[in-house]
Amino acid sequence: MIFEDYFLILNTVLLIIDVFNQFYYAQSMMLCMDLHDFGPCLITGGAGFIGSHLAEKLNSLNVHVKILDNFSSGNTSNLESLSSKKNIEIINDDLNNLDNIPDLLKNIKTVFHFAAYPEVRTGFEKPEIAYEENIKNTFHLLELIRKSEVKHIVFSSSSVVYGEADLIPTPETYGPLLPISPYGGSKLACEGLISSYCNNFNIHGVMLRLANVIGSRSRHGVIWDFLNKLQINSNKLEILGNGKQTKSYIHVSDCIDGFLFSLINSKNKVDVYNIGNSDKIDVFEIGKIVCDTMNLTQTELKTKGGTIDGRGWIGDVTLMLLDISKLKNLGWKPHFTSHESVIKSSKELFSELNNL
Ligand SMILES: NC(=O)c1ccc[n+]([C@@H]2O[C@H](COP(=O)([O-])OP(=O)(O)OC[C@H]3O[C@@H](n4cnc5c(N)ncnc54)[C@H](O)[C@@H]3O)[C@@H](O)[C@H]2O)c1
Repeated sequence: MIFEDYFLILNTVLLIIDVFNQFYYAQSMMLCMDLHDFGPCLITGGAGFIGSHLAEKLNSLNVHVKILDNFSSGNTSNLESLSSKKNIEIINDDLNNLDNIPDLLKNIKTVFHFAAYPEVRTGFEKPEIAYEENIKNTFHLLELIRKSEVKHIVFSSSSVVYGEADLIPTPETYGPLLPISPYGGSKLACEGLISSYCNNFNIHGVMLRLANVIGSRSRHGVIWDFLNKLQINSNKLEILGNGKQTKSYIHVSDCIDGFLFSLINSKNKVDVYNIGNSDKIDVFEIGKIVCDTMNLTQTELKTKGGTIDGRGWIGDVTLMLLDISKLKNLGWKPHFTSHESVIKSSKELFSELNNL
């Protein structure tokens, strides 16, 4: 055979692999769309960053959605696109006041539990918030769920439950789980509570340990922080810690697909899945990407503050990369890498900042 023939055969094989991959991916995503058995749904914290994206996705799939939010960090503008839609109910109340809303779970089959105080970094100064806003809320919700007809609960846990894992990438089976922030401790406590209620009261539970979720409407985290700092002073960007904190990021669109895919594919009473990316990126690199997004070429990136050992704050995990093979083996995969997600989110958030 001459060289051209080998080349042709190789190209054909690559094409077949590509078509197969696309078909497999499309199949798994189609499965993800088959949500009829899971609605109507309640999203606690549905006016927040991740919750509002999930509400939009479920609405586009004709699933009836109820949102419960106290609008502490959530925003009505996050729900703007849903205001004229059918199949959406919005309740402005607090998970700690469930006596006010005894009918909250009427006809609900699936609860996506997102309401929480989502800041990791304030935990050192105010550890009680993690208890009040995360653990107590979750307990109140579970008490209501056990007296209802709810079949499934999906919980947005976090990579921080792993603490400073010495196995990287970190699989779901890693242990012992020793979180290093009050926020991480509260997420682990919630996982424990949910698991126990699922086993005692015949509920199906899905625990999702999320990497850093980024994208439009996010109002906390490193990208939003950098954009705001640079808007005030574009000459200098102050980076908390030594800038080498390295983590994996996921775009919110991939995260939402991961939620629905996990729910549909989870077959045990309680399943735990990591949702993240296979690559990671450090804070310095994120700083450079945000400067590029804003067309800033002369900005000085300067480390400042943080802890003696280079963390951004007490309780900051310096290296986080989740092993996502459990969910990937079932057929899910993110569209965007960490690097691509940071570029995309940076652009999305910069445009939002300009339109505020
Ligand atoms: N964003 C991330 O990178 C990330 C990573 C891991 C886990 N999580 C978890 O995902 C969930 C959503 O996070 P997010 O980034 O969208 O945050 P967010 O602050 O945008 O959303 C949280 C929502 O919960 C609402 N809320 C808070 N306390 C409430 C209460 N007592 N009653 C009713 N509503 C209440 C807030 O108003 C807000 O709308 C949180 O549980 C967070 O801990 C987020």
